[in-house]
Amino acid sequence: WERPDGRPFRQRLLVVANRLPVSAVRRSEESWSLEISAGGLVSALLGVKDFEARWIGWAGVNVPDVAGQRALTKALAEKRCIPVFLDEDIVHQYYNGYCNNILWPLFHYLGLPQEDRLATTRSFQSQFAAYIKANQMFADVVNQHYEEGDVVWCHDYHLMFLPQCLKKHNSQMKVGWFLHTPFPSSEIHRTLPSRSELLHAVLAADLVGFHTYDYARHFVSACTRILGLEGTPEGVEDQGKLTRVAAFPIGIDSERFIRALEVPQVQEHIRELKERFAGRKVMLGVDRLDMIKGIPQKILAFEKFLEEHPTWRDKVVLVQIAVPTRTDVPEYQKLTSQVHEIVGRINGRFGTLSAVPIHHLDRSLDFHGLCALYAVTDIALVTSLRDGMNLVSYEFVACQDSKKGVLILSEFAGAAQSLGAGAILVNPWNITEVAASIEQALTMSAEEREKRHRHNFGHVTTHTAQEWAETFVSELNDTVVEAQLRIRQ
Ligand code: G6P
Repeated sequence: WERPDGRPFRQRLLVVANRLPVSAVRRSEESWSLEISAGGLVSALLGVKDFEARWIGWAGVNVPDVAGQRALTKALAEKRCIPVFLDEDIVHQYYNGYCNNILWPLFHYLGLPQEDRLATTRSFQSQFAAYIKANQMFADVVNQHYEEGDVVWCHDYHLMFLPQCLKKHNSQMKVGWFLHTPFPSSEIHRTLPSRSELLHAVLAADLVGFHTYDYARHFVSACTRILGLEGTPEGVEDQGKLTRVAAFPIGIDSERFIRALEVPQVQEHIRELKERFAGRKVMLGVDRLDMIKGIPQKILAFEKFLEEHPTWRDKVVLVQIAVPTRTDVPEYQKLTSQVHEIVGRINGRFGTLSAVPIHHLDRSLDFHGLCALYAVTDIALVTSLRDGMNLVSYEFVACQDSKKGVLILSEFAGAAQSLGAGAILVNPWNITEVAASIEQALTMSAEEREKRHRHNFGHVTTHTAQEWAETFVSELNDTVVEAQLRIRQ
């Protein structure tokens, strides 16, 4: 988090997200080991030069004792991270319940879990109360660390109440909120019992950001239709107070991926993978094992392709990396068994003694392993049923400058709006269409692959994560200055 040239930072940035960018493991009563998880947001902020960023969030572990909390706080301070301690009950009701069982599926147009519908309806009030309580706990930590002039940047659907909690405490605080998921059509949002409270709470922010123009438009429509407020080209107006609403499409730190391909260990790994898959075209899926990623649908489309194209059967392999996530939520447990069942059936049906058509891994790969896999892939299958942006598609493109593989991309991922011209766009619900797109990708001419790759590579290397973060924060600063000028006029 240091500015490399030693000059002072222009401003402090308090980044507030449900999760800290570190995983913490307790070694003894008072000792913790921490590992930085270099997700998209972390690399974006590492590249932001003018701001001294501090991160406030949940460490993902239950620490009931004061000694443990003190030791973890101290260890995290060295990484410029500040923990919010959530007890097991809050985690169950706020994180597993309201965030991941209600908001997450709803924002991705999946509705409430079918079998739990009645139970969910009954437990809704207590989960919503826990959600507000958790957001207030995050706000309390921000307030303890806030200094005048800081910029506070709240992230994602976990913290929709946070802007309101912060502004109630200090109306002068500069507060931005960014949603990493889609924001659904107002017709979906209005089914949520707490629809109005959530919108009002977000509108307390000075700047509200989304990945795409469509999500921003849905949010403004929800405010006008549900709250009866006025939508303007700048955002939403409530009794003379304007909340600016805009699209800020995120990117990746493309240089980091491109540089990784030069590392000798990665090159060695690439050689090994090429040998292992010699004579076969490699298709790749890299997803968290989440309903929104459409993994069962993707695998069924691959089965259809094998069924319809017997000549390709021993010439293709699908590598599916499925990273376990939210394993305490029953819907996710069911999904894991469903995927295992389908993979087992297809491998049984089309496998031979020497090879199986699907390599399915229930775990993540380290960064270098992932880059090597991206580099040897012929076709990436990103077929989310809905996805805020989907950075796997960006990472794949960044690693393909020598191979120029084909990206098959869901039209329901935010990335379809930026990489649509270079990818083959598909409706992931239509497995016949996805199967046909696999054939199209396998038989595509080298010139066309080159042309499509150029388009996508140009986008991924110019619209980076750093640019995204810098644009959002400077826009937030400008919005606050403009609002002050309006008040004075
Ligand atoms: C999505 C969300 C993030 C979240 C991530 C991992 O990308 O937008 O806010 O951190 O999933 O999910 P988890 O529940 O493990 O934090």
